[in-house]
Amino acid sequence: MKSNKFLGRDWIDAELDYTKEEWESLIEVALDLKRRYAMNEDTSNILRGKTLFTMFFNQSLRTRSTFAAGIQQLGGFHVDLEPGKTYTPARKGFDIPYKTERIKDVAEMLDRVGDAIAIRMYGPPANWIYGFANSTMKEFADSASCPIINMECDKYHPTQSLADMLTIKEKFGTFKGIKMTMSFAYSGSIEKPRAVPQSVVLAATKMGMEVTLAHPKGYDLDPQIIEACRKNAEMNKSSFKITNDFNKGFKGAHVVYPKAWGSVYCFNYTDETGKTVKKADHVKAEEVNTAALGWKTTKKQMALVDKNGYYMHCLPADRGQEVDDDVIDGPQSIVIDEAENRLHAHKAIMAMTMGGRL
Ligand code: CP
Repeated sequence: MKSNKFLGRDWIDAELDYTKEEWESLIEVALDLKRRYAMNEDTSNILRGKTLFTMFFNQSLRTRSTFAAGIQQLGGFHVDLEPGKTYTPARKGFDIPYKTERIKDVAEMLDRVGDAIAIRMYGPPANWIYGFANSTMKEFADSASCPIINMECDKYHPTQSLADMLTIKEKFGTFKGIKMTMSFAYSGSIEKPRAVPQSVVLAATKMGMEVTLAHPKGYDLDPQIIEACRKNAEMNKSSFKITNDFNKGFKGAHVVYPKAWGSVYCFNYTDETGKTVKKADHVKAEEVNTAALGWKTTKKQMALVDKNGYYMHCLPADRGQEVDDDVIDGPQSIVIDEAENRLHAHKAIMAMTMGGRL
């Protein structure tokens, strides 16, 4: 009999697969682990002897450092399998002799010798095909019985959104009635995943906040995710609105989360057979990005939010483009609290899915 209903479960499409009550439980566990960390309590019994494998196909500071520190604080070990230094895990049709290894073989082998596999993949390693990285993680899940943890794919960043919900819970004590705006912010880089905004709007509507999504034309999120947000809002008797007006998104918000993401033109799209149905259009991507130059968070912009309102960003931020220094370093910014909470959120996910008994 399993000791808890989280044990062995994947954390890939977590905003869809875990219930609101399960998210609330994880936030409670994260808060408890945070308190125990502050009190210097020994938590090394929770995952003693357990091994976490990580694979980063993209760069990372926060996710990498907090998973490594977190598993160690829970008594376990972390083994980083750097793609390129191992044989790069590949899906059928993407094999390169003696450079790649089929995912099934990698996943089955790691499952025998460790307790969870955490993966980050989006963008170039997924050929900028929207959804490719998410499906890759699901291929791992098909071949491994241990939890697969999504450390950011091209659709979701659910370890980030759990830390974000934890941060909001700490600041307000509740989600009910909290007006949150996930907003686009300008960046000079046109190629970025849309995992963070998608995960944040899904998690925020799931938790029952009053959510606004603000973005310029061309930066629409995945329609399936928008639909899921509408359903969440309906279930919670809360709201989910979309605006193309930067100021309108900020006005009266208790929390603003302005962050750059890729436009609809930066991705390749395939059908279920893998056939390309639409290619990325970098000319259009540059055009819509230039038109969005004004979407920068300044002090003037922050004057629109509630007087006790907060500024959030998952980091890294493109300072001077997405946001001015005096905002991100200012009194309303909670970006470092948010980054610190990655540690506590990740520990909660690992403790609950890898077999801790709290
Ligand atoms: N926010 C976030 O995921 O940061 P890293 O890319 O540094 O991991």
